[in-house]
Amino acid sequence: MKSQSIQELLSGKNVLQEVTVFGWVKTFRSNRFIALNDGSTLNNIQCVVNFEDFEDELLKQISTGAALKVTGTLVESQGKGQSVEIQVKNVEVLGSADPETYPIQPKKHSLEFLREKAHLRIRTNTFSAVMRVRSALSFAIHQYFRENGFYYVHTPIVTGSDAEGAGEMFRVSTLDAKNPPLTETGEVDYKEDFFGKETNLTVSGQLEAEAYAMALGKVYTFGPTFRAENSNTSRHLAEFWMVEPEVAFNDLDANMDLSEDFIKNVIKYVLEHCQEDLQFLEQRLLDEEKSKPQAERSEMALIEKLKFVAENNFKRVTYTEAIDILKNCKPNKKKKFKYIIDEWGADLQSEHERYLVEKHFQCPVILFDYPAKIKAFYMRLNEDGKTVRAMDILFPGIGEIVGGSQREERLDVLKQKISELGIDEKELWWYLDLRKFGTAVHSGFGLGFERLVLFTTGMGNIRDVIPFPRTPQNAEF
Ligand code: 4AD
Ligand code: MG
Repeated sequence: MKSQSIQELLSGKNVLQEVTVFGWVKTFRSNRFIALNDGSTLNNIQCVVNFEDFEDELLKQISTGAALKVTGTLVESQGKGQSVEIQVKNVEVLGSADPETYPIQPKKHSLEFLREKAHLRIRTNTFSAVMRVRSALSFAIHQYFRENGFYYVHTPIVTGSDAEGAGEMFRVSTLDAKNPPLTETGEVDYKEDFFGKETNLTVSGQLEAEAYAMALGKVYTFGPTFRAENSNTSRHLAEFWMVEPEVAFNDLDANMDLSEDFIKNVIKYVLEHCQEDLQFLEQRLLDEEKSKPQAERSEMALIEKLKFVAENNFKRVTYTEAIDILKNCKPNKKKKFKYIIDEWGADLQSEHERYLVEKHFQCPVILFDYPAKIKAFYMRLNEDGKTVRAMDILFPGIGEIVGGSQREERLDVLKQKISELGIDEKELWWYLDLRKFGTAVHSGFGLGFERLVLFTTGMGNIRDVIPFPRTPQNAEF
């Protein structure tokens, strides 16, 4: 007999039919009620066993975490809390889970504890809900781009270029670390390495995506990226997923329009398709925040917040305007910020970004036209000679969620910038070629996928929205 998912069974279409279902035991109450879950939905199906009909040995093995095959009749439920249940005819324990050692018992576990059990934490309601929302979001991303004429490009993971010029890369090498081949001057000889040159894990697919945009028009990448920055925060991972659209002939305004429309659309998709999980996550957040002082609680409940973002315009503000606001704001004057803003040109820290979004504007903000000095080499220089066509999107509770720009399309200006920064032109020969052959205005941005999942699920730590987080000193699993 064909098995059915619990989600299908709970829709109630098969009442009075014999059904087979597979899943893991959430709880087993009174030797009679099994709450079974298979991951297809947050909800469990109740399986009612007549314990008189089953061996004690078998019943004993039905404990939290055990994998079961259950066959029985789907009936309308007598009890409260569910519409249908299974009157069990047969139970097979496919794999037991010793209650003495199975860590995910039916009680409240801290998120920190569950992080250490990342291979099992998906069996909890919180993590299954988060990971279903994560999956829906990635589908929505592909759907958005497909419906808007973009091509999906797979940019390389191993690369010879530093896209951000920030030097925060993980080396990829097959050389013997203890005894590497040396050049005549005593340096490691990367000519002897696997690729015959120094290579790293990519920090961004942007540069390669630019090449593709200059032929296919509208492209995007969506893949893992790696940063060896030693930031132990609730917003940083060493391995994270980034969505990077790149569009030929788009200027910065078009880039801002695209980013805003894109984010609103994927959030709407989740609002439409993940109601159950979002409602659960909303309640989880409310419960968690009960123990916090009023001032630290979210102003809006999760679903209301998502609707607000989906339905309201993002505020667009220049860096220069933002600096004026920050210079004159209370926390700056009273020296409440860790980094005091006293002059134009200062890099914004997350405390400043969050002040702008959460206190001043109280909505998502797109900051643009940043000082050239604090941004990457590839951004287009403005006529003023000191700012670049950069944009960051700042989100409440998250800070920076998107970083992007219009790209420098003029060969001479780009070369000048590269040499000022001391980057070796030879490394970027192919990138410069794009400015020699059919160059044109083009723009793109990168959205940190986990930051979007954080925002959408209301979770507080980025380690809890990716299956197996990689952070400094941690690469377990
Ligand atoms: O602002 P970033 O560094 O921009 C780029 O990499 C550009 N090349 C993107 C482009 O224009 N195609 O990173 C983009 C986004 C950030 O806004 C943030 O959301 C996320 O990536 N991000 C991280 N997310 C998690 N952990 C980290 N360590 C992150 N670093 C950046
Ligand atoms: Mg950035």
